[in-house]
Amino acid sequence: MQRLGVLTSGGDAPGMNAAIRAVVRTAVARGLKVTGIAHGFAGLIAGEFQEMDSGSVAGIIHRGGTILRTARSAEFMRPEGQAKAVVRLQEAGIDALIAIGGDGTFRGTASLAAMGIPAAAVPATIDNDIAGTDYSIGFDTAVNTAVEAINKIRDTATSHERVFLIEVMGRESGHIALMAGLAGGAESILVPEIPFDLQVVMERVIKARQANRLHSIIVVAEGAAGAPGLGEEIARLTNMETRVTILGHIQRGGTPTAYDRILASRMGAAAVELLLAGRRGFMAGLVGEGIVARDLDQVVGRRKEISRELYELAAVLA
Ligand code: F6P
Repeated sequence: MQRLGVLTSGGDAPGMNAAIRAVVRTAVARGLKVTGIAHGFAGLIAGEFQEMDSGSVAGIIHRGGTILRTARSAEFMRPEGQAKAVVRLQEAGIDALIAIGGDGTFRGTASLAAMGIPAAAVPATIDNDIAGTDYSIGFDTAVNTAVEAINKIRDTATSHERVFLIEVMGRESGHIALMAGLAGGAESILVPEIPFDLQVVMERVIKARQANRLHSIIVVAEGAAGAPGLGEEIARLTNMETRVTILGHIQRGGTPTAYDRILASRMGAAAVELLLAGRRGFMAGLVGEGIVARDLDQVVGRRKEISRELYELAAVLA
């Protein structure tokens, strides 16, 4: 193994840059050459290659987004696209590949591994829905962004004695909603994984008012319910002033937390070391205190479940 390729793919996540930096610097320290591939698998098919060295990843550990840019590639989903990608890698003399991203990225990486490319994946998605790793890069930053927003909304919610619905990201997973809701002291947390009863949500709002609480905060994962419609419904049924805030892509940007930078640094470095040690077709995941290799076949298509224990705790503390 002499030349390593690195790319970021799918939705971006704060900390991706720290992961790129760790991959490049670990590879350089181990005597490898590195090719950066722009725009994920789409850029791989198009041959968007750039030489990388220690200096090209200087000054990025604290930056959100990804210096390699990212994309979702429909062409790469098809076998012809994957075959083209393999040819491109061979033409560029890239012996192994590290892909940083979420589940879609992992599928692509697994396909390349099945075609004989020594490939590894690093989990980076604010959704934190990748099975086999305790955390994915970007999740901690996104949760902190959401909690900061909840804190601010709480101030105005109290002043006006309003009900607030705060919609956070998570089309199919409620990890951000659960953690942000728990840390933000939400009265109700609605996640796609657990059906909710509108009656129960309203009863909580009404009870809180009777107990002299001046506001209500309901955190809604985007995949659990459409917050605007739900807000109208709650306003109509409770007769309380209700407002809705959708946090949206603000959760995907910003400077990564120290936790995400350290996680990204560890995972990126481990991915290189594991490839050098002969592992193939794996994800560098966090399990407890350690970074371990997990076979991509065991990870792809499986979703990390939310913690029922924390969900119940949040309900008791609300
Ligand atoms: O990164 C994952 C995610 O943030 C989901 O929670 C969200 O639904 C989706 O990406 C949004 O993606 P896009 O950037 O394509 O709108």
